[in-house]
Amino acid sequence: MAYETLLVDITDHVAVIRLNRPEALNALNAQLMEELARAMRAAQDNDKVRCIVLTGSEKAFAAGADIKEMSKKTFVEVFTSDFFTPETEDILRVRKPIIAAVSGYALGGGCELAMMCDFIIASDTARFGQPEINLGVVAGIGGTQRLTRFVGKSKSMDMHLTGRFMDAEEAERSGLVSRVVPVKKLMDEAMDAARKIAEKSQLTVMTVKEAVNRSYETTLREGILFERRAFHALFATEDQSEGMAAFLEKREAQFRDR
Ligand code: CAA
Repeated sequence: MAYETLLVDITDHVAVIRLNRPEALNALNAQLMEELARAMRAAQDNDKVRCIVLTGSEKAFAAGADIKEMSKKTFVEVFTSDFFTPETEDILRVRKPIIAAVSGYALGGGCELAMMCDFIIASDTARFGQPEINLGVVAGIGGTQRLTRFVGKSKSMDMHLTGRFMDAEEAERSGLVSRVVPVKKLMDEAMDAARKIAEKSQLTVMTVKEAVNRSYETTLREGILFERRAFHALFATEDQSEGMAAFLEKREAQFRDR
């Protein structure tokens, strides 16, 4: 499958999707978003893929929506196309875990894209921001909602209203990213995490993703009920028997996704 704005590589059951528009700091244009949605659907459908890493370049994960392309749009165009919503829905429908490996700028739509992933590993050079206010607009693909849930109202307001950037240390302290690593080690760290996930039972992995995401979408009581039923359901799987037997027999579990 040919992509012009992405590089896709599958190794060790991990699909690495790299945003690749270096001339525009990986700004998200229509072509990139269409290709990204397609690559995500392909990764979801490919049985060899058990985890996905989404990354950019050392200088930029993505510097936001493509301002050149966006500047000519009218209200009617963004409203009728629902600007990037169909593409982001495809990403959000992926049931396999997606790790964002972020180095350099993750701004506007770039920050929003990283937040759509399941967790973010950042390099020490990462810079996050929602600077849309400087362009006379507001974040458009989830920033006001997701950033607020990750870092709280005060910091989210600060970021959206001033347009300032957050460095990696502040992002980790605020709960936006799960870990910060030296820039040269970013891909090794992301691949190690992805390979570890790929070794688990995919039934359990998908259940974890659903259950944790549920915590953003429902009440605590309903979320806990969802988790409890998911826990119960996994007792119907061979992987539960294998995982527990392997522990008791002091050996590595051999999961078969059954
Ligand atoms: N769209 C289109 N092109 C972009 C871009 C973007 N978002 N960000 C950078 N580029 C282009 C620049 O135009 C430049 O191209 P030319 O050399 O052809 O002029 C090239 O990438 C390199 O950029 P700079 O020369 O600006 O690099 P810098 O190192 O001096 O600055 C930066 C880096 C701080 C990230 C700066 O480029 C910048 O502020 N970019 C815009 C960030 C932004 O406002 N993002 C939000 C977009 S709106 C959005 O995303 C809406 C939404 O929620 C969906």
